[in-house]
Amino acid sequence: SIPVPSVQEMVRKDHQTVPERYIQEYENRPLTDALSSTSCQIPVIDFSLLTKRDETEQKKLDSACKEWGFFQIINHGVGEELIERMKDREAAVFDLPLEVKKKYAMGENDLQGYGQAFVVSEEQKLDWADLFFLMAYPPQYRNFNNWPLIVPSFKETVDEYSAEICRVSEEILANLSMLMRMKEDSLKELHKVMRIAMRMNYYPFCSKPELVLGISPHSDGGSITILLQDDYITGLQIRHQGQWVPVKPLPGAFVVNIGDALQMWSNGVYKSVEHRAITNARKARMSVAMFVMPDDDAEMGPVDTMVCDNGPALYQRVKYNDYMRSYLDRKLEGKITDSFKSQGQ
Ligand code: SIN
Ligand code: FE2
Repeated sequence: SIPVPSVQEMVRKDHQTVPERYIQEYENRPLTDALSSTSCQIPVIDFSLLTKRDETEQKKLDSACKEWGFFQIINHGVGEELIERMKDREAAVFDLPLEVKKKYAMGENDLQGYGQAFVVSEEQKLDWADLFFLMAYPPQYRNFNNWPLIVPSFKETVDEYSAEICRVSEEILANLSMLMRMKEDSLKELHKVMRIAMRMNYYPFCSKPELVLGISPHSDGGSITILLQDDYITGLQIRHQGQWVPVKPLPGAFVVNIGDALQMWSNGVYKSVEHRAITNARKARMSVAMFVMPDDDAEMGPVDTMVCDNGPALYQRVKYNDYMRSYLDRKLEGKITDSFKSQGQ
């Protein structure tokens, strides 16, 4: 990844100018007016009913994953105090002086740390955001050189938060395993080691939000993503039936989405849906994305139970690591699952 300036710092010095490198091509610009009128909403799932294996709620989960690839969960049991503390520690991280943040900068071939991912050329359009990417779970996978440990209780907060996200993820994966006609722990086992990476996103306000993107359209690579977004500022948009639909925040809820790995395991039945984020003219927006990912040598490709009932295997078998290499070797744009389709599909 090519190093690029901190957008936060750029806006701090001059909050009016939007440099050319950030101005999207006409067809990629967000149409802020048209979207605010959309009334569509992604499904809301009651997590506490999933823990009871409630069949009606499982059916709602099943159709959410098929039709939207996205849903929000309520009654997830993650304490309000912990969530607020996580947001507050995230804010403290981005508040650090630039000189301090630079000490945690991503290396040439390392995704972990402070910076911007997916910058592969000097010409490409840049996202209006800064980020911190850290491997959070399991603890022995962490590289503390890139952790902002200078922020008081940051580590303890991530410890608690990632343990809770792990609990929530395992429960969702258990329900999805049942819906895929497998044993409850099958999806977890397919991960070999269930890893959780954390990406903290900071989208500074932008004087011309109609010209820039906070994050370009993409689908996530892992199995599921659990997103903590701002309670009030809308930014996330998902592609649904050819339209960009905003995900209106539901205070206290998490946004959950299906990633490419689960799309492939489910033989395309569950959809890893493209999404992007727009910026706000007056306020900075922050989010914390927790990516649940298989281990490097886990096998992608349809599980048996999804092949017999749902036609031929749509995808090849590929190691997660090989898949990820193609995912990362490019500008973040659209989806790549199609390049892993089986012969003749
Ligand atoms: C992401 O795609 O992970 C970021 C979404 C957001 O910040 O709302
Ligand atoms: Fe994403």
